[in-house]
Amino acid sequence: MQPRIFLHSTSPQFRLQRRSQAIASKALSELDKLARAMAASCISLQLMLVVAALAAVASAQLSPTFYDTSCPRAAATIKSAVAAAVASEPRMGASLLRLHFHDCFVQGCDASVLLSGNEQDTAPNKDSLRGYGVIDNIKTQVEALCNQTVSCADILTLAARDSVVALGGPSWTVPLGRRDSIDANAAATLTDLPGPDSSRSQLEAAFLKKNLSTADMVALSGAHTLGQAQCQNFRTRIYGGDTNINAAYATSLKASCPQTGTGTSLAPLDPTTPNGFDNAYYANLMNQRGLLHSDQALFNNDTTDNAVRNFASSAAAFSSAFASAMVKMGNIEPKTGTQGQIRIVCSKVNS
Ligand code: HEM
Repeated sequence: MQPRIFLHSTSPQFRLQRRSQAIASKALSELDKLARAMAASCISLQLMLVVAALAAVASAQLSPTFYDTSCPRAAATIKSAVAAAVASEPRMGASLLRLHFHDCFVQGCDASVLLSGNEQDTAPNKDSLRGYGVIDNIKTQVEALCNQTVSCADILTLAARDSVVALGGPSWTVPLGRRDSIDANAAATLTDLPGPDSSRSQLEAAFLKKNLSTADMVALSGAHTLGQAQCQNFRTRIYGGDTNINAAYATSLKASCPQTGTGTSLAPLDPTTPNGFDNAYYANLMNQRGLLHSDQALFNNDTTDNAVRNFASSAAAFSSAFASAMVKMGNIEPKTGTQGQIRIVCSKVNS
């Protein structure tokens, strides 16, 4: 046990002891304040984490029944408008499907691609994307049913599904509740949309960046069972740039795609059944009849060959893989809750 030492109150040692006791007690009280402040900031940090987690859950909460009470006739209205547009021009189904892809890969599925100018004017989209007018027309009809309720992003997602159905492809349930962006990202069209000269690994990387697997990428590329591409996007491939092309196919393409000139003439992405949604695209690839370099990259003695063979031999396997990959693509970074807005006109933000 320590011996206790008593000092006289007038002694210098006593005064020294009192002063150091005072300093110690002040230090203790400062430490106490610091500890309390740290505890409080820990609580607010925890609170912030909880709020962030809730926001993440909210963005994952798209639901197929989202408009069941707020606009029950929206889905049927969109479906019949798409059916009419496709009946008057079958290629429109292809164009609407691609519009949804180009929306989702740039800043998420938020209808940013529908804002006039911006993303629409960059290289992958300018003089190439089509269908804006059809979406505007559908939006007018839906606004007449339910004012400022159904987002342009959801209209586009449903229109993509309805286009596939109208051209004989599979149907699937579409999660809904996306909101529209208040801005667009023109620069990201150049970095996030894969180009027609992409290699297999570049395609894989572009899809992985959006959390889509290689299997999803092969399935979604099957969208090229529909629609057309411009000569400038496959010209290099047919004039000696690629060796993995069927010679007769290359010769037939050259007739409408001269080596020089503007390169805007069109050729079907699926020469077998250009206006029918089926698995012929994959059989074409196995016959070296992919139109774009990026198409044929999926079947070129490499890791995706087996997936191509599988889809070529089973229409059912393709349909089901395509449908589930479309749902995954449609779920890329949706805006929900209080994010963004419900645009009244799809081509401009609300004033
Ligand atoms: C894998 C990477 C992809 C590349 C490199 C690519 C590239 C292209 C190119 C260059 C065109 C022709 C554009 C023109 O000449 O004006 C095109 C058309 C088309 N793309 Fe893709 N695409 C890809 C994936 C997709 C996906 C995932 C979808 C939909 C799910 C899609 C749907 C379409 C459709 C339907 C067309 C025809 C559009 C029309 O006729 O209006 N593509 N694509």
